[in-house]
Amino acid sequence: MKKKIRLGVNIDHAATLRQVRGGTTPYPDILNIANLAIQGGAEQITIHLREDRRHIQTKDLVILAKKCSVPLNLEMASTDEMVRLARKYKPDWVCMVPEKRQELTTEGGLDVYKGLRKISLQVERLQMIGIEVSMFIEPNPIQIQASFDSGADAVELHTGKWVRLRGRARKYEWNRLINAAEMAHQLGMSVHAGHGLDYQTAKEIKKLPYLQEVNIGHSLICYSLEEGLCSSVRRMKSILR
Ligand code: PXP
Repeated sequence: MKKKIRLGVNIDHAATLRQVRGGTTPYPDILNIANLAIQGGAEQITIHLREDRRHIQTKDLVILAKKCSVPLNLEMASTDEMVRLARKYKPDWVCMVPEKRQELTTEGGLDVYKGLRKISLQVERLQMIGIEVSMFIEPNPIQIQASFDSGADAVELHTGKWVRLRGRARKYEWNRLINAAEMAHQLGMSVHAGHGLDYQTAKEIKKLPYLQEVNIGHSLICYSLEEGLCSSVRRMKSILR
């Protein structure tokens, strides 16, 4: 049987474009962006509410939690503030990620092993009200075991390193992803993957055993500019005519 991989579309960078003008423009409308992704086939909408609010804002979470017609996956740091917001707005999923203020994007996976006590309590508080939880981790057995010990429902394997590597190092990282996926599956957790995926690497990642979900953002928002700019310029021309 052909396996079906759920596509989560991460719309953070639509919000990045809005926030470069301080959030003062009505465009892009985040709910509209989510709906367009859904029209295209997105089976989940993913947003990362960062502590510095550089792209997604709390008001975006409020709107999407209420109006998004497919499951909403909230990526967030494992802080008390974020757990409180998640419990208030109740996304379908929470994906716990590491967060550093200075980073350009999520670098590396969450150290679930180190933070196990605190993270386990947070997982319990989220699951208690029906939110499913995944851990965004490096494909490393210690982190897989710790994710299982935390009570998480799924792991999201960080593909960011693999997509950038070449040659033998890439093969090595691919094997780490395979081993991690197999171990997570044997422990009964769902296997998700994400970071840095594009049209090319999507063809490869779908061969990862037990893969149930991918979350893709930056490349899709970039492609949408290349595939959509022609039509928005055409519309502007017709308005000016
Ligand atoms: N999954 C997680 C946990 C992430 O933090 C991100 C980036 O926000 C993604 C997936 C999507 O990565 P990209 O934007 O590179 O496709």
